Amino acid sequence: MANEWGPLQALVGEWQGEGGMDRSFSHSRGVVFDTPYLEKVTMKPFGPVDNGSQHLYGLDYKSAMWRESEDNPFHTEVGYWLWDAATGEILRGFVVPRGITVLAGGTAAADATSFRMRADVGGKNYVIGENTYLAAKASSISYEVTVTINGDDTWSYEETTMLRMAEFAEPLAHTDRNTLHRVS
Ligand code: HEM
Repeated sequence: MANEWGPLQALVGEWQGEGGMDRSFSHSRGVVFDTPYLEKVTMKPFGPVDNGSQHLYGLDYKSAMWRESEDNPFHTEVGYWLWDAATGEILRGFVVPRGITVLAGGTAAADATSFRMRADVGGKNYVIGENTYLAAKASSISYEVTVTINGDDTWSYEETTMLRMAEFAEPLAHTDRNTLHRVS
């Protein structure tokens, strides 16, 4: 049977990564700060979703990140990853509960082990939406993620969100990376 999920097939499951690293501006410290984190991700397959002649297969995902000493996650995401086998388009649509939505997209081969997705505020198809406070004070002007499937039942991501922040004259690179290993 054909693999309808293309490069997303390898991501189905439950995952955990202890070696996450975030770089962002910390309001409480007043500096750009590196925060190590623990991450848990679930990816549940679904499909097809039919838009006329388009047939998408996807993963329903949730992720959460914790600082070492804290009970509550300091970052969470809910959303979908989507794959269109006819065009090779790969999408990740998600919400960050700061009041941000992202629809990032790119292209990949069905058997790709590395792929990239990007969104820009004001972009044509792959866009970022944000609340009015963030648009004025800490606007997410672009988002780019590279995903690598490592072949040993782990996968990794590196992502950069460029922020135009009231505190800085130049855009700040807010970065996150982690490697996730399968827990079920
Ligand atoms: C693994 C993923 C991520 C983690 C762990 C993370 C974590 C953080 C942390 C720790 C801060 C600093 C908060 C503070 O101390 O003031 C922050 C700020 C921010 N993040 Fe993220 N972030 C992630 C992904 C994203 C993404 C994907 C976006 C948008 C596309 C985003 C948008 C923002 C914005 C706009 C701020 C600035 C808020 C402000 O300064 O008022 N983040 N993030």
